[in-house]
Formats: sequence, C-alpha cells, structure tokens
Amino acid sequence: MGYRVVVAGATGNVGREMLNILAERQFPVDEIAALASRRSLGTEVSFGDKTLTTQDIDTFDFTGWDMALFAIGSDATKVYAPKAAAAGCVVIDNSSLYRYDPDIPLIVPECNPQAIHDYKNKNIIANPNCSTAQMVVALKPLHDRAKIKRVVVSTYQSVSGAGKDGMDELWDQTKAVYNPTTDVPPNKFQKQIAFNVIPQIDVFMEDGSTKEEWKMVVETKKIIDPSIKVTATCVRVPVFVGHSEAVNIEFEEFLDEDEARDILREAPGIMVIDKREPGGYVSPIECAGDFATFISRIRQDSTVENGINLWCVSDNLRKGAALNAVQIAELLGREVLKKG
Ligand SMILES: NC(=O)c1ccc[n+]([C@@H]2O[C@H](COP(=O)([O-])OP(=O)(O)OC[C@H]3O[C@@H](n4cnc5c(N)ncnc54)[C@H](OP(=O)(O)O)[C@@H]3O)[C@@H](O)[C@H]2O)c1
Repeated sequence: MGYRVVVAGATGNVGREMLNILAERQFPVDEIAALASRRSLGTEVSFGDKTLTTQDIDTFDFTGWDMALFAIGSDATKVYAPKAAAAGCVVIDNSSLYRYDPDIPLIVPECNPQAIHDYKNKNIIANPNCSTAQMVVALKPLHDRAKIKRVVVSTYQSVSGAGKDGMDELWDQTKAVYNPTTDVPPNKFQKQIAFNVIPQIDVFMEDGSTKEEWKMVVETKKIIDPSIKVTATCVRVPVFVGHSEAVNIEFEEFLDEDEARDILREAPGIMVIDKREPGGYVSPIECAGDFATFISRIRQDSTVENGINLWCVSDNLRKGAALNAVQIAELLGREVLKKG
C-alpha cells in the first residue's frame, strides 16, 4: 500500500520538478493529484509516463490524502496549507511562510532528520530556501568534525529561483539584446538580468541586508546550530538553473583541507569534484537535473586561524526545493507514516 499524494503548484518550476522526482525515485504513490490556481484548470502535466490534469486548489478536498507537497508561494500557502493540515494531510511547504515558526520543523534530511517528529505540532513541515539547502548539506559534516564559528558566503543564484517568470525574463531580454527593435524592461528583477549581475534578491531589511541574506542566516541556525554566525551576500546571475556559492568557513578547531575533502566525499548528498587543473570543478550548467550538491575548490584559508574555502553548486529546483521536499516525504514515510 502506498500514499495518496498531492502536488500543489504543479504547473510551476518547483511543482513540475516535484512530479519528476517523485516518479524518478519511485516514491510509493497509490494516487496523485496535481493542483494549481483556477487559471491552470485542465492544464496537463507529466508524472513519469503518465499525464495528469491539473485541478483547482480552491475546490479541492484534502480529506483522505496522506501528504501535500506545496510550491505555490506564501500568499496562497497561507490560505490552503491550514486547510490541508486541518483535513489530516501533512503539508511539506516550499514557501518561506512557516520556516521561522518555532513549532514547525525546517528540515534538510542530511542535516536534521530527527526534527521530523515535530510535524505533529501543526501537521506542517517547512522546506528551506534554495541557497540555504545546498550550503547546509556541505556545512553539517564539517561542523560535526571541527565546529563552525563563522561562515562568509557569496551566492551566484540562477533566475529559475524567481519562478517561471524569472526564466522568461532572462530569455526575452537576451533575445532583445540582439534585436534592438524590441525592449524588454526589468519586471521580475530590479535591473536588466541579461548580461548583468544584480546584488539584490528579495526585499531590503532595515540593516541594509536583503531578506534572502537574512534567510540564509536564520535558517542555517535553525537547521544546524544557533551558535553558527553567517554573513551572506546574495546575487542574481544570468544562469537559468543552478545556484553557486563561494563559502568561507572559520572553525573552532583546525581542519586540514585534505581531511575536509575526505569528510565531504563521505557525506550524504555530496559529490566532490576538485581537481586543481583547468576545468577541474563544477559549474552550474553541469549540475542542472542532478540530485547532488557539488563541492569544488576546497582549500585552506590561511588568513584566519582555522579557515577553509570551498565552492558549492547545486540544482536549485532540485536540492534547493523539489528534491529536498521529496526527501522529507520519504523521511516522513519511513519514520512516521510507514506505508509503502
Ligand atoms: N524556484 C526555486 O528555486 C525555489 C526554491 C525554494 C523555494 N521556492 C518556492 O517554491 C514556490 C514556487 O516557486 P516556483 O519557482 O515553482 O514558482 P512558479 O514557477 O512561478 O510557479 C508558481 C506555482 O504556484 C501556483 N500558484 C500561484 N498562485 C496560486 C494560487 N493563488 N493558488 C494556487 N496556485 C497558485 C502557480 O499556478 P498557476 O500556473 O495556475 O499560476 C504555479 O503552479 C515559491 O514559494 C518559492 O518561493 C522556489
């Protein structure tokens, strides 16, 4: 016996990947429902070799469904997640709405699987921000060995992190550069994204950082350890899929770069590609469609007492969103619901 699973936001970037990954990983599904807004009623989406017809979330009855993977943005989640949870369907949510609620577990299965049991508080589990998810997968095994004091991270985030509209804007602006008669002004992004980089993701906070940067700080603390200090600069780059991060880590104890490389090689969810030769590292175009978080450029930082630098790349629609949500569903099944 398998699960009755709902995917909400099935027409979006993350929702489509959720359907792909549930099929790829042969999640034990007895029945699956694809939901989106009324705008998409009747739209067809793929689930393995099957085609599903999208239903309107507003009229959907969640009663009798085991779990719902949500990727519909915070505003719609605020309306529909409590409805699903109250009907007894466990919500695994990709928006930022519930991530900072102390009663709701924020889970990256490689880092804090033990938090799964807290789902009972509200029948809701939160999935982290895409840039946090891939970073904590790399930080956790290193923290277990040498205790991290401080992290300085700069991100290079793809446009798919801003949904399907973000991808369209990069595509249309890129074409318009070669066709001066068309003008595609910034809409989803604050400035032109084609052939440019933009040091702003999400809104500004009072202290001058952006909300995306703040998310990396508080989510790392919630998932791994509140004592870890994080400072982040988040930048949008003209890449379609795959977020990259330059991460500088300061530890309590000395950690040799070779040992760090060995630890990461053994760690779950990580693939180390680190040859000190031209091209001996991973770039975002190579990670798209993959499950792993790739780590390259591991090296000592001799400007601090116990420092390591590394380069971290992952498919933001997968580990940063859909894959992590499916891994949470697998964990929930294995540890709690025990069907399938
Ligand atoms: N992209 C990433 O890397 C990433 C990573 C982590 C988390 N997330 C989060 O995941 C969520 C979805 O992101 P995305 O990138 O997939 O966005 P997207 O490509 O723009 O897709 C949005 C999805 O939400 C649905 N939706 C929007 N408003 C709705 C409403 N009022 N009622 C029901 N469905 C509604 C859309 O349905 P229609 O087609 O009918 O409009 C569509 O299926 C967001 O909360 C985002 O912050 C994204």
